[in-house]
Amino acid sequence: MPIAKLKKILNPYVNHARKLKIKPIIRHYDKDVRVASWSGASFHEAYFSPFDIPPPAKFNAQGVARSNVIDAKVAEVACKVIADFGGFITDYLGSNVRLDDIYMFWFDPDKVENWSLSNSWHDDNVGSRVKVFVCFNGDGSTPTVVVPNSHNIPYSPRKEEISRFSGVRNTQDVAGQVELRYKSGDLAMFDTSCLHRGLYEQPSAKRTVLVLEFIDRDKSNRIVGYAPCGPGMSKVGEVIFDEAGFKLLEGTGLLDESLVSAQCGNYVYSLKNSIK
Ligand SMILES: [Fe+2]
Repeated sequence: MPIAKLKKILNPYVNHARKLKIKPIIRHYDKDVRVASWSGASFHEAYFSPFDIPPPAKFNAQGVARSNVIDAKVAEVACKVIADFGGFITDYLGSNVRLDDIYMFWFDPDKVENWSLSNSWHDDNVGSRVKVFVCFNGDGSTPTVVVPNSHNIPYSPRKEEISRFSGVRNTQDVAGQVELRYKSGDLAMFDTSCLHRGLYEQPSAKRTVLVLEFIDRDKSNRIVGYAPCGPGMSKVGEVIFDEAGFKLLEGTGLLDESLVSAQCGNYVYSLKNSIK
């Protein structure tokens, strides 16, 4: 059998073994998360006044594009979110929480060639983490579907991850699921340890969202590379703030100063900066 084919078959199992390795770390940091205090999913209609943010030229084969460049106008919206929900998130996740990642995310159904892995039911394999979607453009037909209260158990990698990473889609309705049908101006928030999926199948529509992720900083530092977390979702990923945007977000107290470096008038937020 060719090595590439063998690797493709083995990869989901290797991936699962890597998740088993971080299980005790996630459980250690999650033991004080107040999971019982929240169903794990919230929705706020007509939360803010959105403005137009044009998409980048390139979308990937899953029909999505992502930008980690955050200017002052977007940072202002992020600051409002943190002013309104930062207290709740800190109470829920603990005082060691940080803004772990922030990015603009576009979906265009006309550009879908392959189904995204996030179309199937999953948790994000990082334990408790709060993800906020702030919808700049959308008509509610491309929701995130979440199963409330499915986060209320200590983390274990799900066996279904092996088939998901083998390319098997699982989009069947689940008892108790709620559809967070955010449209322009709405905000949705959920714990990514809840079972969830992106409902990208038709009828779906173009969607533009600002995403903010909050997690315990020491947990993220220890599991990055094994699970998708940290700025830009990896050890070497970056968020770029312009100066005004950085100053605004710095004022929230939820940026991790150890991840920041100044570069050519901008500020780079990356785990690369924490390795001195
Ligand atoms: Fe996810």
